[in-house]
Amino acid sequence: MFNCVSLPQWLDDYIFNQQKANYCPFNSDMTVIDWDKNNVLNYLGTYFPRSYTEAYCIFSEYFKQHLQEWQNRESISVFDFGCGTGGEIIGLLEAIGKCLPCTKQVRIIAFDGNQDALRLFEDIIQSYSEQAQLNIQYQVIPVRIDDFYDLTILDTLLTDKYDIIMSFKSICEFVTKERFEKQNAYEHIVRFLLSKLNDDGIVVLVDVTSYNNVSQKWLPCMMDKGLKAAGCNVVSKNDGYNQAFFISHSERIRDISKVAWRIVQK
Ligand SMILES: C[S@@+](CC[C@H](N)C(=O)[O-])C[C@H]1O[C@@H](n2cnc3c(N)ncnc32)[C@H](O)[C@@H]1O
Repeated sequence: MFNCVSLPQWLDDYIFNQQKANYCPFNSDMTVIDWDKNNVLNYLGTYFPRSYTEAYCIFSEYFKQHLQEWQNRESISVFDFGCGTGGEIIGLLEAIGKCLPCTKQVRIIAFDGNQDALRLFEDIIQSYSEQAQLNIQYQVIPVRIDDFYDLTILDTLLTDKYDIIMSFKSICEFVTKERFEKQNAYEHIVRFLLSKLNDDGIVVLVDVTSYNNVSQKWLPCMMDKGLKAAGCNVVSKNDGYNQAFFISHSERIRDISKVAWRIVQK
């Protein structure tokens, strides 16, 4: 899989010059759900390009290897759990544009509990839609999940099933905040996501690979245990413990992002 990408010039210009985002890496166990607009702009300049790259590379490779299953879909539906500023959504759209020329329409449901992040996402997707070849329809769900009960509220808001469901670096925050008490957040969230998946769809999970100080466990180990307990079928994953992706933009050449990723089906 190629793993080295430059942010498209318009996107670089948009986030660093128009939105005034900053490059500013943070420490592990960060919880973006609590951040204000200034911190979200730091997120935008640092992690948005990384998530863009991870999604662009992972989906491009997956579509290439599963072209027969995906190449004739005129419309694709997407649900992003914890989209934040939506780097992975733009990365996915770029991968669809490059690999699936028959796809004309993408419908996106973007869920997140941070309103500042969602507002930035809406600005970016609006700009993207104006220049993309694809017809993009999107809807945001601004809901914060504090516990099991809130997950049932999200359940009632999602009336459809989706072809692609993804969650990039958001489940780690549910672990840190113990949203499901001491239980495995990956297991609960993946069970929930699978219930919203079309039979021939995929769930793509990407997360940081650090040791979590709250659960006192390595996150990729928690992820694998959770997926096993949820009984899903892991059809693709990174080699080894993590995979490095490199992203260049005007604030940084070859910024590195190391993540664990899994693609699962029902
Ligand atoms: C580290 S950010 C990742 C954002 C985006 N997926 C990306 O890769 O750039 C985690 C996101 O999950 C959201 N999130 C975390 N806990 C949440 C909760 N309990 N309810 C709703 N959203 C939550 C945060 O608001 C944040 O936008």
